[in-house]
Amino acid sequence: MPRTVGRVRADGIPAACDALVEALRAANHDREVAESLTHPFHSYPARLHPATARILVDVVATRAPRGLPIVDPFCGSGTVLVEARAAKLPTIGVDLNPLACLVAHAKTWSVPPKRRQQFKDVGLAIARTVHEAGKAARRSGAEPAPLRKPKGFDPNARDRRLASWFAPHVRRELEHIASEIDGVRDSDEELASILTACLSSILYKISSRTSDTDGTWVDRNIPRGAATRHFSQRVELLYEGLNDMRSTSPATIFERDARALPDLIPAGGAGGIVTSPPYAGTYDYAEHQRLRFDFLALRHRDMDAGEIGSRRGFVGGPESAFRAWHRALADMIDAMAQVLAPGALAAIVIGDSFIKAPHGKTATPIYALDDVRAALTEDLVVEAWASQERPMLGGVERRSFGERAKAEHAILLRRTGGQL
Ligand SMILES: C[S@@+](CC[C@H](N)C(=O)[O-])C[C@H]1O[C@@H](n2cnc3c(N)ncnc32)[C@H](O)[C@@H]1O
Repeated sequence: MPRTVGRVRADGIPAACDALVEALRAANHDREVAESLTHPFHSYPARLHPATARILVDVVATRAPRGLPIVDPFCGSGTVLVEARAAKLPTIGVDLNPLACLVAHAKTWSVPPKRRQQFKDVGLAIARTVHEAGKAARRSGAEPAPLRKPKGFDPNARDRRLASWFAPHVRRELEHIASEIDGVRDSDEELASILTACLSSILYKISSRTSDTDGTWVDRNIPRGAATRHFSQRVELLYEGLNDMRSTSPATIFERDARALPDLIPAGGAGGIVTSPPYAGTYDYAEHQRLRFDFLALRHRDMDAGEIGSRRGFVGGPESAFRAWHRALADMIDAMAQVLAPGALAAIVIGDSFIKAPHGKTATPIYALDDVRAALTEDLVVEAWASQERPMLGGVERRSFGERAKAEHAILLRRTGGQL
């Protein structure tokens, strides 16, 4: 999460402004929080900086009625949920992306120490089995086990999509780990899901995909046994992180559209919201995880259809994409207002972006703070906001923003109707 330090502006209730400024600035320097708890377990595009999440959870918690959860309707890999749990608050996360839910669940797994130990023992036993099998196959020159055929997925199509991304020996090792996890799934679905998250966390590192957000092919020389080694390291990392949490506060995660929040939480049932929705036209969360979806056999049709603000959504039809973006923003703000307790707070982190135009036309900037304000109804009022200038990444972007700086914003909203 490297960040360039930019100028910060803020307005609103002074104490809230100070906290928002600190929340944005913390992302520039606070490595300690980023490395703590289960935060480093799994990469995720546009992850909220854990130090930002920590400050915002603290701010929002001050007005959360006792016992009501801190909610993140775009929870992604669960950064806010981890921080809420660490603060001993109940928490609810929602995300339409099945990979996000898998990871967020693993990072906030709330079980007794014995169960965590069982996870570690089973994970390390799988790593040992796969390692030994690999060594034995090399010694005897035996044929390795056949590739998996997850139920409901066309094995040939899956194979075609995966083939170029992994060296054959790496793929065999990964498939063997996955088969061992399938064996656990028959009797213990929950444990299998946590182990699958561990497998997911190593997939890109040992594939030929450059990173989550960069799908270009890169040549990586991955030695035999590396997959197994990385897998066991991730098991240990998650185990340590979960142990450090020492919290019994539950985290509940729903794989749903954020706009369906009122179907999941009763009116006034959220003690506070801390969230970072997608930035318009910036990422393709479904696309970024396609290799993981294929390898882990995760269903993603709803995510493909319902992802808000995706970059691919802006290609070709910007006018309708802008309308869809503003409608989605309004629906999401309305959903938040419906579930927030009167007087409770919502903290939103969102960034400006720009939409590339067909050749010869100027790209269009999206000013996220303006868009959020425009989407507000009388149910939510702005208590404070802070904006930090962000670097522009090229001539097109500079021309599109013109004199106005591109920025990332932390916005604090209050649900009207409560006692101040
Ligand atoms: C900026 S990311 C959130 C990152 C998260 N704060 C973290 O720390 O990992 C935005 C998230 O919105 C999710 N998303 C996109 N469209 C959605 C929708 N319609 N409903 C729920 N989640 C959605 C994406 O899958 C992505 O995880």
